[in-house]
Amino acid sequence: MSKDKIQFVCIDCGANHLKWMGQCSECGAWNTLKEFKETPLKQSISQSPSKTAITAFKPNVESLQEVKEMITKRQSTGISEFDRTLGGGLVDGSVLLLGGDPGIGKSTLILQILANLAKKQSVLYVSGEESKSQISQRAKRLGIDENIALLTETNIENILMIADEITPKIMVIDSIQTMMSALSVSAAGSVSQVRDSAQQLTNYAKRTNTILFLIGHVTKEGALAGPRILEHMVDTVLYFEGDAAGRYRLIRAVKNRFGAVNELSVFAMTQQGLKQIENPSAIFLSSDRATAGSVVTVIREGSKPLLLEIQALVDNTSGQFKRISVGLEQNRLAMQLAILHKHGGIITSDQDVFVNAVGGIKTSDTAVDLAIILAIFSSLSNKIIDKDIVVFGEIGLTGEVRPVYNGEERILEAIKQGFKKVILPKANTPKNNIKGVVLLGVETLTDALNYFLSE
Ligand code: TYD
Ligand code: MG
Repeated sequence: MSKDKIQFVCIDCGANHLKWMGQCSECGAWNTLKEFKETPLKQSISQSPSKTAITAFKPNVESLQEVKEMITKRQSTGISEFDRTLGGGLVDGSVLLLGGDPGIGKSTLILQILANLAKKQSVLYVSGEESKSQISQRAKRLGIDENIALLTETNIENILMIADEITPKIMVIDSIQTMMSALSVSAAGSVSQVRDSAQQLTNYAKRTNTILFLIGHVTKEGALAGPRILEHMVDTVLYFEGDAAGRYRLIRAVKNRFGAVNELSVFAMTQQGLKQIENPSAIFLSSDRATAGSVVTVIREGSKPLLLEIQALVDNTSGQFKRISVGLEQNRLAMQLAILHKHGGIITSDQDVFVNAVGGIKTSDTAVDLAIILAIFSSLSNKIIDKDIVVFGEIGLTGEVRPVYNGEERILEAIKQGFKKVILPKANTPKNNIKGVVLLGVETLTDALNYFLSE
């Protein structure tokens, strides 16, 4: 085999140089060139992490107590709402997948988090998508001048080699879909490339106790492009929700080995990046609700109650009829329309029905049932539902309004936002009156409809 060639790599930007220099000619950093031996590909494969992992990784037994301590010792990302979504901060050696539509703010958020984390430890940001100047422009816009090691590279073996050298405490791969491994025989960008790359990175993170963020694009269908498979490999899966054109972004934990799922944090996209919103309660309401078809409800996402406006539009069908729901469960809509017909005597079979959760939020809280049905009723009958009314409750197939959990908390949230009347399941009505609000407990859908018809 030919003699190994000596090269010099900048540990800041990862650029290769044939000879040693005091300053990297790529990124301008001083004293960052380190010597390394370039090995032919085959050899580098045999030395690749999976092999070194076996030699370097000594299986060891830990007591449950030690593991518990590791989990309770979390570190803050500097963004308290994001910490809360994680279950209280980052756990050492954990692997997180951050997914979302292109342009929603993944790279922005991760750069903000890295800047906070870089104050105390070494961090490595690997981008396979953008050039260094693009990233530095973003950093400038965000007012970031912390020391973040930046590497633009897509080859996993090279990335791990650099990582071995600079031993970052936190590493970000943006995005996992752009990565490829020489170990993988399939084409770049293919599912198996993505999986193999993620596997190697995950092994590295576990072996070295590094916190690893994998950023992934989500396709239009809502699945992480190709690798749903990644969700099984990682400890925590976070998805961005909300529409990229709007101002608000939501981050939801859909899987979390170190915290509760469904925990949600809300951010606003501003000129200086993402700003957390600690009290997001009123942002899912439109400013003008004085039209028929709009009803406000209280949902509970994770551990927080949120006010949410449900809008419905019911219109004469022209051609084939449509039933479309945005942000709400499509299957439930057909069921709700059937209940409205059977128990409310209201026919919608000759109508198009559209329902929408305002603000791009997605919810599967069944407490929205009553609001959806009343919004449809309001649009169809052209009857405006008062702006200061909140409704919540699950509706059963027999037309009964069933109680939901955390009823009292929902009432209090509505009061906090200035609502004067709450229509709720009878079983959720508190024994003692609550000051400042009229509570109207209903047992059936008919009760609720009668209330509005008699008004
Ligand atoms: P980006 O983080 O690049 O999205 P992703 O990595 O998910 O593809 O952010 C995309 C959008 O955010 C882009 O359209 C510009 C906008 N933006 C702001 O509005 N304010 C900012 O401070 C930054 C950095 C970006
Ligand atoms: Mg990006």
